[in-house]
Amino acid sequence: MGRLDGKITVITGGASGIGRGAAEAFVREGAMVGLLDRNSAMAEQVAGELGDLAFPLVADQTNEASVAAAFEEVRRRFGRLDALLTYAAVQLVGEDAPVHELDLDVWERTYAVNARGVFLTCKHGAKLMIEAGNGGSIVNTGSPTGLTMSGAEYTAYGSSKAAVMGMTRIMAHDLARYGIRVNGIVPGSIVTPLTKKLYDDPEISAKLTALHPIGRVGTPEDMAGIAVFLASDESKFATGAHFFVDGGISVR
Ligand SMILES: NC(=O)c1ccc[n+]([C@@H]2O[C@H](COP(=O)([O-])OP(=O)(O)OC[C@H]3O[C@@H](n4cnc5c(N)ncnc54)[C@H](O)[C@@H]3O)[C@@H](O)[C@H]2O)c1
Repeated sequence: MGRLDGKITVITGGASGIGRGAAEAFVREGAMVGLLDRNSAMAEQVAGELGDLAFPLVADQTNEASVAAAFEEVRRRFGRLDALLTYAAVQLVGEDAPVHELDLDVWERTYAVNARGVFLTCKHGAKLMIEAGNGGSIVNTGSPTGLTMSGAEYTAYGSSKAAVMGMTRIMAHDLARYGIRVNGIVPGSIVTPLTKKLYDDPEISAKLTALHPIGRVGTPEDMAGIAVFLASDESKFATGAHFFVDGGISVR
C-alpha cells in the first residue's frame, strides 16, 4: 500500500528538477499526478516515463486562462484535487542583479512566474479543493535566498521566493476552515536545470557546496520525502509552516 494511494495531485514544474523528483516519488506512493508545466515536450516525456499514474497538463502559469483550463481538466477527469505542489519558477541567472543594476524587465519576468504564477495555481487549485469539499494539502516552494544572504545579488529571485513564503502563511490561515493545509518547503541548493549555469562554473559550484554544513549540495531525490510527508495524512496537524530541507544552509 502506498502512502498517497488514490490522491489526485497536481505538481507544477513537474517536468524538471525537484518537481520531477517529487512526481516520481508520488507515483511510487500511488498518487495520480498531473504534471503542470509550460514545457509540453518534457511534460509529455516525463508523463510517458512515469506510466499510467501520470499525465501532462500543459499550461503557462503566468496566464490565468491557461491555469484555469488546466485545473478544469482535473475537475472534469477526477472531480476533485487532493494535493497541489507548486515548484514551477525561474531564476534568471546572468540577468538578476543587485537592486541598483536590476532591469525592470528582469524583475517583471521573475515575478510573473514566481509570484503571480504561484498565486494563480494556488487560486485555481484551492477553488477545486473547496468545491470538492474534501480538504487537501498545498505545498509551496520557498528558498533560503528569500531569508538569508544566499540571496545576495539575486534581488528579483530571492524577494519573489520571500513573497511565496508570505503567501503560504496567509493561505494557511484562510484555507484552514475548508480543511486545506498549506505548508512550504525550503530547499538547499539542488542540482537541477534551474541551477545548471551556476554549477557549470567550478568556482561558484565550490562556493555553493561550502554553504552547506552537511558537506554537499542536494539532489531532487533529497527533496522528495518532505513532499510525500506534507501531501499525506501523516502531516495532518501541520499547516502554515516552512520545512527546511537544505543541508543546513539556513543555520549559517
Ligand atoms: N534548484 C535549487 O537549488 C533550488 C533551491 C531553492 C529553491 N528552489 C525552488 O525549487 C523549485 C524547483 O526548482 P528546480 O531547480 O527544480 O527548477 P527547474 O528549472 O528544474 O524546473 C522548473 C520547471 O518549471 C517550469 N516552468 C517555468 N516557468 C513556468 C511557467 N510560466 N508555467 C509553467 N511551468 C513553468 C519549467 O518548464 C521547469 O520544468 C523552484 O520553485 C525553485 O525556486 C530550487
